[in-house]
Amino acid sequence: MLKIAILFSGGGSNAKALSQTYEEITGKKPLLITNNVHSPLAEDALLIPKKNNEQDIMHLLREHQIEKVLLAGYMRILSKSFLDAFADFSKGTKNVVNIHPSYLPELKGAKAYERAWDSDRQETGITLHYVSAEVDSGEIITQKKIPIDRSLSMNEWIEKSKKIEHKIYCAYLRELLEGAKDA
Ligand code: GRF
Repeated sequence: MLKIAILFSGGGSNAKALSQTYEEITGKKPLLITNNVHSPLAEDALLIPKKNNEQDIMHLLREHQIEKVLLAGYMRILSKSFLDAFADFSKGTKNVVNIHPSYLPELKGAKAYERAWDSDRQETGITLHYVSAEVDSGEIITQKKIPIDRSLSMNEWIEKSKKIEHKIYCAYLRELLEGAKDA
């Protein structure tokens, strides 16, 4: 069974949804890694201290023989040397995936929902993509446009949009585990 690690820094709603899907399909728990002790999901995860971040993560990935890394609101940029080293031992170049809350290449970077909300756009999007050394620029796996529903408050709209993220990310994981996607 494909061994995955999920990295997160924030509320962890994507990490939680992915973790449940993984467990439902495989009967096992995925490796959860966070760099934020205050995350509501932190007690289910291994905590990476800020210093030597990448070395510590790589050590865990090797130790657990991880083949695929899913980033779920992980708020640090992974360096090219980290990505190369992981590609080497996991024997593949498409082994780190991220979800970004915009229709890439629009609105790269942090707070993409908030920036879309503050603009005069009527819609934005969600993109699942492979991670490359350049931020939010790796090959796109799938993307979906979503309306900006201004009848809601911004926070309500973000919550609603994140539920769509969970569906997209979990459907991808399901396909991956069932062998329909490049594992
Ligand atoms: C999500 O909007 C995701 O697209 C972005 O960071 C946010 C993480 O939210 N990369 P959560 O921690 O999964 O709730």
